[in-house]
Amino acid sequence: MKLKRVDVSTGEKLLYPSKPTVVSAEYGGRIGGMLASWWTQLSFKPFYIGVAIGHERYTYKLVDGSGKFGLNFIGYEYVDKAPYLGDVSERFFENKLEKGGFKIIRGEVLNVPLLGDAYLALELKLVDKVSVGDHDLFIGEVMSIYAAEIYDENYTWLLDKIKPLFYMGRIKKDGKIFRRYASWVGTVSRDVEFAGGILRDSHLKRYSLRREVITRLREASPLSMDEALDIVKDVLRRYGVDEDDAIYYVREAVYSGGAMVEGLS
Ligand SMILES: Cc1cc2nc3c(=O)[nH]c(=O)nc-3n(C[C@H](O)[C@H](O)[C@H](O)COP(=O)(O)O)c2cc1C
Repeated sequence: MKLKRVDVSTGEKLLYPSKPTVVSAEYGGRIGGMLASWWTQLSFKPFYIGVAIGHERYTYKLVDGSGKFGLNFIGYEYVDKAPYLGDVSERFFENKLEKGGFKIIRGEVLNVPLLGDAYLALELKLVDKVSVGDHDLFIGEVMSIYAAEIYDENYTWLLDKIKPLFYMGRIKKDGKIFRRYASWVGTVSRDVEFAGGILRDSHLKRYSLRREVITRLREASPLSMDEALDIVKDVLRRYGVDEDDAIYYVREAVYSGGAMVEGLS
């Protein structure tokens, strides 16, 4: 394959396929929901997921007003219902979820409306809202999860049990606009050894360095920034890593490892 430069304005389309989620919420006596491709997990602990929602969406108002929302993943069998979720607005097409035939169930922790037909549904508490360009990023902490039996003992998808709904972007055909959705009929998968072969040693070094930094800073907590940097530099030196990188490890130990350092905790 040979890369060829293309116009930046086409780039958004080239990022597809996405696995859109349905953001569901309730506020002021109204229940609504919308498809959203722009979502991502943001943190392990706390378990944070962010979703970018445009200001005009009725769902924006529902999530902002109620301070909680659901994320629902539906299978390809609901492809013909997708326009209720992604094309029309609850503001102008009232009760669109009901009209689209979606069954509403309730999350057990926050009582958030969720789609009973989803193969995976999560209940989230809104913890922050960050302005990013023309959308706002709603950051939620996952409070409960409901999953259909599509997973093996590793909680890995059984690929032949599920046909996820993927989105490929908008296309024009015969003077009309269509949205292209996709899924799979057959799948290929392969288990690639985690950091195997010649990667093993560098992986072990990376992880034992991180673990040692976290353990030492946690044991010595609370610390001033200078004390923390001194400890980390000592470890980095032994591992042959640039001492200037100490600040990244101090932050990692605080934000992921539970260490307490002045100015960061
Ligand atoms: C597949 C797909 C993905 C979408 N992703 C987003 C998204 O990430 N953020 C967003 O604000 N709108 C997104 N939209 C648009 C909204 O789903 C759409 O405007 C919807 O009608 C809003 O409904 P509401 O006004 O009832 O909230 C997407 C639409 C589709 C079809």
